[in-house]
Parts: sequence; structure tokens; C-alpha cells
Amino acid sequence: MKNAVPEKPMIRALQGKTNKQFPFWFMRQAGRYLPEYRALRAKAGSFLDLCFHPKWAAEVTIQPLRRFDMDAAILFSDILVIPHALGMKVEFREGEGPHLDTSFTALSYDSSKLQSVFETLGLIKSQLEPHKTLIGFAGAPFTVACYMIDGKGGGFPKMREALVSNRGNVKNLINMITSATIDYLDQQIRSGADTVQLFDSWGAIPKGQDFDDFVITPAQKIVAALKIRHPDTPIIGFPRGAGDRYAEYAEKTEVSGMSVDQDTRLDAIQTRTTLQGNLAPETLLAGGDVLKDETNRILNAMKGKPFIFNLGHGIIKETPPEHVAELSAMIKAFDAS
Ligand code: CP3
Repeated sequence: MKNAVPEKPMIRALQGKTNKQFPFWFMRQAGRYLPEYRALRAKAGSFLDLCFHPKWAAEVTIQPLRRFDMDAAILFSDILVIPHALGMKVEFREGEGPHLDTSFTALSYDSSKLQSVFETLGLIKSQLEPHKTLIGFAGAPFTVACYMIDGKGGGFPKMREALVSNRGNVKNLINMITSATIDYLDQQIRSGADTVQLFDSWGAIPKGQDFDDFVITPAQKIVAALKIRHPDTPIIGFPRGAGDRYAEYAEKTEVSGMSVDQDTRLDAIQTRTTLQGNLAPETLLAGGDVLKDETNRILNAMKGKPFIFNLGHGIIKETPPEHVAELSAMIKAFDAS
């Protein structure tokens, strides 16, 4: 029966195989730059209500594919559903970003708070063409811990202080998030995710040994645990801003794919792991000749290699959808072989 299933270009790339065209998707491809997202978002009420409503969440997941025909749909949710499932009060305030109540006493993981996410994955899968990839995701433990310790985004001063004066507490918290994340991603794969991405958006904060202990080690544990349960499901890591430690991250964690931000050139990373990235979101916002030139630079640098075209970080909300259409057309027209 397995042979009857069409191959998914993005999964082929993650298996180290090349494709005639580069498979592509964009971080934050669902979101406020799309009028149809803003309309549904207004109807849903709060952002978490939207995330936890399977029909709406599946709809906003599919919205960008209708316009731009990407190779992959990424589950519409947020990395902060894990603190929610651990018992923290999580809110998204208009124009302010996330707020977490840090006055908690005891935390314990309750996966029943995430059931609607698994339902959403099933709904998306049933609407997705068979050659398209369904991406699940979670925040990497360090990045999730940043929001749990500081209670909000910004410079994470409390986390930075804890790395110096309270390493033991950081370690315990990261261990707890690591176990929850293994269960969460395992259930996402069982619910239909073809691959999962670990977002370590703030993974460049810990330096030296801290990068080993709080970025590489948790990712290693998550990859190892998921590989036992799902040996054929590729895992993508995104240690954003890792710079000269990208190659080491790929080697030590044994991820199948690694997303690279816009500050490191793809051809400077010595790795056999499939790369994904790394167009600057600002370039997509700008459009015009800079968008054409930068896109061509990346396409030509990766020609003949297994590669997934993406941005170096999420789409900026002011980005005109026409720029996304233009970029998608360029990627599709390029002979990648
Ligand atoms: O399309 C997709 O990429 C899937 C959905 C997705 C969201 N968040 C939706 C979202 C994904 C993969 C994320 C991941 C996420 N969330 C990360 C890691 C990636 C990154 O951006 O670095 C982080 C750090 C978060 C935490 C988070 N969620 C912040 C800091 C914010 C507020 C900032 C902002 O852009 O407003 C969010 C809210 C959020 N998550 C929105 C969306 C579409 C905007 C909320 C809204 O619509 O009101």
C-alpha cells in the first residue's frame, strides 16, 4: 500500500533527496498579513480561542496554500500552548504580544488541554492534497522557558540572570518542558503531522557550555525519543541565530533538517543535514529588485542540493501578499536539479 502514496517533495528533501523544484513554505505563512486571516481572527475573539478551535485553526492553516500553493501546511497554533498545558495562565494581549502569569507554584503537564490541537491536525490532513506535507511544531525547551521565566517577550532579563545565578532551576524547568514536548510532538505525529519543527527562536542567548546544555541537549533528547517511536518521521531544528554553531547543532542533535536564519550564509555551514531558509523577512517586505536578487542568490547557491526554501524568520505582518505570490512564483519557476 505504501507505494500507492505519492511522494511529498518536502519529505524527499528531508531524506536527503533532490527535487526538480525546491519545496517551499514560509514561517508564519498564516497570519496577519492575510486579510482572510484577519477576518477570521476578528470573529474568533482571543488568539488562543482561535488556536484551540479545530475548524477555525484548520481553516487558517490552509488559507495561505489556497493563494500561494506552498508544498507544506504548518499547523496553526503557538509555542506557548505548552506553558498553558503545564498549568500557567497564558494570554495574548492586543498589540503587546504574549503575557504569562509567573506567580505559579506547582506545574504539571496535562495533555488533555491540547486535545483540540490533535483534532485540528486530523482536520487539516483530511483537506490536504497527498503530495503536500503537514508540519507540526513545538517551541524548543529553552525558548519556551524564556517566556515562562520572564512572563513576556523582550530581552528576557530574568532568564539571562537565571543562567548566571540559578542554573539548577533553569535546568529543572527545561527538563520538565522537554518531557512535555516529547509527548506533545509524539501525539502530533500520531495525529497526522508528516514532520515536526522545533523552534528555538531565542536559542542564541545561551553561550558556550550553556548552549550545549540548554539548546543542544534538550533537542538531542527530543529527537532521540521521537525516533524510537517514529523512525520515519523527519525532525527539523531551528536554533535561530546559532551562527558558527549551526553545523554542530545539526550533527549532535541528528535532526533531518535545519532551518537557518538570514544572518548565516547557507553555503558557510558544513553539514550533510538538509537545510531550510534563509531569505530575510525584510527582503520579502521590501519586494522589487532586492527580492529578486536575493531569491536568485539563494536558489543558485542551493541548486542540485536537497533544500527547502523558506525565510530566515516569520513573515512580517506589513508584508504585501503580492510579494509572497511573486516569491512563490520565482521558486516554482527555478530548475533546482
Ligand atoms: O503560520 C505559522 O507559522 C504557524 C503558526 C505559528 C504562530 N506562532 C502563530 C502566531 C507558529 C509556528 C508560531 C511560533 C511561535 N510563537 C514562535 C517561534 C517562531 C518565532 O516567531 O520566533 C514564538 C517565539 C511564538 C510566541 C509568540 N506568539 C509571540 C512572541 C507572539 C506575538 C508576536 C506577534 O507576532 O504578534 C505570538 C502570537 C502569534 N502566534 C500570532 C500568530 C499568527 C499573532 C497573534 C494574532 O493574530 O493576534
